[in-house]
Amino acid sequence: MNILVVGGGGREHAIIKKLKENQAVETIYALPGNGGIARDAVCVPIGATDIEGIVAFARDHAVDYAVVAPDDPLVLGCVDALEAIGVPCFGPRANAAIIEGSKVFSKNLMKKYGIPTAAYETFDEMDAALAYLDQARDFPIVVKADGLALGKGVIIANDRAEARQAVTDMMQDKKFGKSGEHIVIEEFLTGPEVSVLAFTDGETVAPMVSSMDHKRAGDNDTGLNTGGMGTIAPNPYYTADVAKQCMDQIFLPTIHAMKAEGRPFKGCLYFGLMITEKGPKVIEYNCRFGDPETQVVLPLLKTDLLTVMRAVTEGKLRDTPVAFSDQHASCVILASKGYPVSYEKGYEITVPDAVWPNVYVAGAKESDGKLLTSGGRVLGVTAVSDTLQNAVDQAYALAKQIHFDNMTYRRDIGARALRAGEK
Ligand code: AMP
Ligand code: GLY
Repeated sequence: MNILVVGGGGREHAIIKKLKENQAVETIYALPGNGGIARDAVCVPIGATDIEGIVAFARDHAVDYAVVAPDDPLVLGCVDALEAIGVPCFGPRANAAIIEGSKVFSKNLMKKYGIPTAAYETFDEMDAALAYLDQARDFPIVVKADGLALGKGVIIANDRAEARQAVTDMMQDKKFGKSGEHIVIEEFLTGPEVSVLAFTDGETVAPMVSSMDHKRAGDNDTGLNTGGMGTIAPNPYYTADVAKQCMDQIFLPTIHAMKAEGRPFKGCLYFGLMITEKGPKVIEYNCRFGDPETQVVLPLLKTDLLTVMRAVTEGKLRDTPVAFSDQHASCVILASKGYPVSYEKGYEITVPDAVWPNVYVAGAKESDGKLLTSGGRVLGVTAVSDTLQNAVDQAYALAKQIHFDNMTYRRDIGARALRAGEK
């Protein structure tokens, strides 16, 4: 089989490495991939949002199956376009990807179907949003731009002035472009966060092992929000009891709601959850695998990934068991100093051969046979072991064997989970 994977980050590298375990896979094309992914796939310089380019490539290269990984092409209808030329795909169509593409849509869906989430109001007019804030009594309060904003469209405002500023930034100054034409203002929730990725074919849902992201740039959750600085799985806050509540109150109701709305969701649905004192609530949905959650979740998947993906595409997930190892995984992101604000690129990366199987490359390009840094998050290094402590220790030991100038990483990936696990 020839497989096309749309995207070019650590998540895509993890998907590609896992797909390659299937003997039937001949060639994997990554569009665009990156310098590190090039070790495992044929990288083609077609951007992930160039839907026409992707479709033309698939038509010309006898692609048998496509995996569309990032949010932008999914929201733009990449799956619809590939299906239209007869290429079966893993990923939701545009009318289902809206669950991530519009926060107004997802909040209204949850309200309509009684799915637990933060209380909220939506606004299309700045004056109405500001008037609402004048009445608000509980702070912090959360202001969210409706559309995709590279994870930056969420502002936790500590007081009324900050909240007003966020609203003006979004609605008047268009800081997030069209994303901020509509906004959500919602209640601030507290509690540990859990990420659950789930395979679903629109009817059946198969949650993957839970995970915990570490979004802040600095140790002890300080500094700016990033795309994610590391992950561990499973997440100790996701107990069997919480898992059952999530299945009954969140996962199944969401799948059924999307189907009832005429938007069946097929692919990987990401539930960003907060375990509050009143039970688990949805913070956000993503219409795709999480990054860097995928770099700890897929290494623990025991079932063949391509088999599960095709079952999702064909609506046969009910008949396909999906099994995970009961081991633990930890991923540490090695980043360029200065990320997520500004950073230098072009430094040579060295990875010993023995460490490559544990590495997922996010931001690197090849030049004259060398691998050079080309992004803020450069790569993730994952270890799997019998205990979380061992997985964390091993991931850090592997990280120490990798070099590039200006490297930085968090030293406390897994620390919170280890403390929780002791209780
Ligand atoms: P999102 O882009 O929706 O994932 O939001 C980014 C981060 O903001 C989440 O991972 C949470 O840590 C935080 N966040 C979003 N919504 C809320 C909320 N209602 N209460 C508390 N924190 C939130
Ligand atoms: N790690 C969070 C995300 O993928 O959105």
